[in-house]
Amino acid sequence: MPLKHTLSTLLAGGFILSSPAFADGVVNVYSYRQPQLVEPLFKAFTEKTGIDVKMVFAEKGLVERMEQEATLSPVDVLLSADVGRLTEAAEKGLAQPVTSEAISSKVPPSLRDSANAWFGLTMRARVVYASRDRVKQDNISYEELADPKFKGKICTRPGDHPYNIGLIAGMIAKRGEGATRTWLEGLKANLAVKPNGNDRAQAKSVAAGECDLAIANTYYMGLMQTNEKEPEQKDWAAATRIIFPSSPEMGTHVNISGMMLAKSAPNKDNAVKLMEFLASDEAQSLYASQNFEYPVNPAVKPSEIVAAWGTFSPDSVNIAEIANHQRTAARLVDEVQFNN
Ligand SMILES: [Fe+2]
Repeated sequence: MPLKHTLSTLLAGGFILSSPAFADGVVNVYSYRQPQLVEPLFKAFTEKTGIDVKMVFAEKGLVERMEQEATLSPVDVLLSADVGRLTEAAEKGLAQPVTSEAISSKVPPSLRDSANAWFGLTMRARVVYASRDRVKQDNISYEELADPKFKGKICTRPGDHPYNIGLIAGMIAKRGEGATRTWLEGLKANLAVKPNGNDRAQAKSVAAGECDLAIANTYYMGLMQTNEKEPEQKDWAAATRIIFPSSPEMGTHVNISGMMLAKSAPNKDNAVKLMEFLASDEAQSLYASQNFEYPVNPAVKPSEIVAAWGTFSPDSVNIAEIANHQRTAARLVDEVQFNN
């Protein structure tokens, strides 16, 4: 059958094109990021350069795997969904610094390692989801969430979740441990219910009238607004609006997804090409829109859905410094018994 013949020819052609023997080399990626978020980027990169991207995805254990494989590791580039894994890998000596104007000119200094060991690519902000019906103010600060005027009005997931630890560590970096402890006590006193559930559950609570203000990551708004599988989430999103907290002392807290060149990358040249591509305006925009995140380069526009939430200024502290305060943040959460 002619149709069948054509199909098998196409498949054979695809195989030849992606075979390392005929491709212009390869680059190996270990990714903590879900395949569907990064595969469109790899496809665009391969189309541009002819370099094949091979990926291993895992939610946990990739840094440990790199450690065990040591100099025999096939990995060239590590992609992470948060800054913690990047600083951890760098501290363990698994990173190789990259000096590239094409990368450093596209990533603000606060969102990359000062020694070029890792670079942010997309960011998400930890913000307030405010009830559209019951909250009239358009501005808020993290500090204000501890003001007694909000007694019984606030919902959040547990304090020891990495997202909240990051926010608390960010406050320690800006305002010190003592002020942060006082803030945490005030926030706890304002909670409508004991901290429980994930970020989306907090939006659900606002929609149900259980609280007026919730603390959550920005991208969940996009995931709820477009959720065809669970359309009730669209109602939770519609009941709330994002306010980006900021004060003269502290801008909006962000975390990043990012990348790192492996210490003993066997395909270093290809790896740097991939990293330069990922830092480009085109790739940042594509990457950020996959998960309703923000490109780290302020010159690159977020997707339409994300842009509709408004604009904000990320806090100026380097997110690596925030990582340094995470242990103290966890201790404060324990000491004020935030979850009880
Ligand atoms: Fe998340």
